Amino acid sequence: MADLILGIESSCDDTSAAVLRDGVLLSNVIASQQVHKDFGGVVPELASRAHEQNIVPVVSEALRRAGVKASELSAIAFTRGPGLLGSLLVGTSFAKALSLSLDIPMVMVNHLQGHILANFVRQPDVPVREPSFPYLCLLVSGGNSQIVKVNSPLEYEILGQTIDDAVGEAFDKCSKMLGLGYPGGPIIDKLAKQGDPERFHFAKPNIPGLDYSFSGIKTSLLYFVRDEMAKDPDFLENNKEDLCASFQKTLIDILMTKLIRAAQDTRIREITIGGGVSANRGPRERILAEGEKRHWNTYLPEFKFTTDNAAMIAVAGWFQYKAGVRTPLDVAPVSRMADF
Ligand code: KG4
Repeated sequence: MADLILGIESSCDDTSAAVLRDGVLLSNVIASQQVHKDFGGVVPELASRAHEQNIVPVVSEALRRAGVKASELSAIAFTRGPGLLGSLLVGTSFAKALSLSLDIPMVMVNHLQGHILANFVRQPDVPVREPSFPYLCLLVSGGNSQIVKVNSPLEYEILGQTIDDAVGEAFDKCSKMLGLGYPGGPIIDKLAKQGDPERFHFAKPNIPGLDYSFSGIKTSLLYFVRDEMAKDPDFLENNKEDLCASFQKTLIDILMTKLIRAAQDTRIREITIGGGVSANRGPRERILAEGEKRHWNTYLPEFKFTTDNAAMIAVAGWFQYKAGVRTPLDVAPVSRMADF
């Protein structure tokens, strides 16, 4: 009998549900929340309320598009964390209720494992191209920046990670600081396309090993813009494209230096990227270019699987389901990675 997995994702501000048949995606529905736009960031209480409103229609729509009845499902995969606790609670509670009422198992998924396995979302009529194990994943999202060695779908080693801000946070905070809006990543990405990445230079951190730090570059940008504005009040307005391009290039340089070192240290040449920041054209192009130079096999997830989506959660859950992993009904969501 086919494995039919329902995936549920509700860790931040996207409510998403997906249906997978034997690893092949049948549907992936995402309801993004617009209520946060005026606040310059995600408001946790508003996010959980919106998830509550969205979850039933989103799951129903995912089943409808997949042509699957709830009673046919084999298991439910859901994001247990990390993320916003109130948001996670909605997805987790929904998964429990459905599991109980349908009498089928549920499988908890670490959100980051979803991003790391995003390249394994198979789609009908799309040629399969997946990394072989072990591979390295540059995981770059709003809450995390890590280099992960993926030994198997169920076994991960974090080789390096940020000691302060995540790279997505650096995009978001700097965009806010420059008055460009939220979320910062796509806005800076768009402006950077029209700017000169070599025009300005910002201090890069000097962190030992494979760890990252992104809080210093924020301060470096802040002081630079403040000093220039003191001389010319129109500096920001007249130079925002170059500022964004140079800032983005600095972030990518920082990311790539450690990724290259990790590839050298481990002698792994299967390289992937995942997480919201992997929607950015910059790191995608750089990974391809470095890959060509260094004879890496590079794998970039499709844009729709870079930001939060239930397809990747369903895939991560499916791997576990096949391995016999089941999650008990008394499971509680967790907000932090360390609590997993
Ligand atoms: O993975 P994600 O959707 O949520 C988390 O799990 O954190 O990542 C969201 C982050 C935000 O910080 C957003 O600014 C960033 O991904 N992002 C981008 C782009 N699109 C989204 N960053 C840079 N360039 C983009 N095009």
